[in-house]
Amino acid sequence: MRRLVFIMALGVLALAFAAPAFADAKVDQGAKLFVDQKCTLCHSVADKGNKKGPLDGVGGKLSADEIRQWIVSPKEMTAKAKTTRKPPMKTYPNLTKDEVDALLAYLQTLKK
Ligand code: HEC
Repeated sequence: MRRLVFIMALGVLALAFAAPAFADAKVDQGAKLFVDQKCTLCHSVADKGNKKGPLDGVGGKLSADEIRQWIVSPKEMTAKAKTTRKPPMKTYPNLTKDEVDALLAYLQTLKK
């Protein structure tokens, strides 16, 4: 019985350590997607990419929902934000939900 408790405690500990590592992997995946999907054509992070559209503070400026909306329905968000910057953001219909989650996780870490 004590052994079982010990094993269970180990399991809980392992989970507690694995969760942040899992979150980091998501953020890394998002950072990679940000470059692979060419978001940098119109946006920059830490001065890398197109400086007309810095996203450095976006994690503090927008809510998670708003950032997700920008990724999945940029047309609606462009209209809502009344931004006139050209070219407008294009849609990314090929991103899977997992990829959108990763991009979101990454963008949320961008706080000034
Ligand atoms: C063709 C250019 C273009 C590309 C490519 C592009 N965007 Fe955008 N994005 C814009 C424009 C224009 C805006 C409106 C805000 C502005 O004027 O910078 C915007 C806004 C955003 C915002 C809201 C920023 C804010 O400060 O309110 C986020 C988040 C964002 N884009 C994420 C992305 C991500 C993630 C990608 C890649 C998957 C991407 N964008 C690719 C042009 C682009």
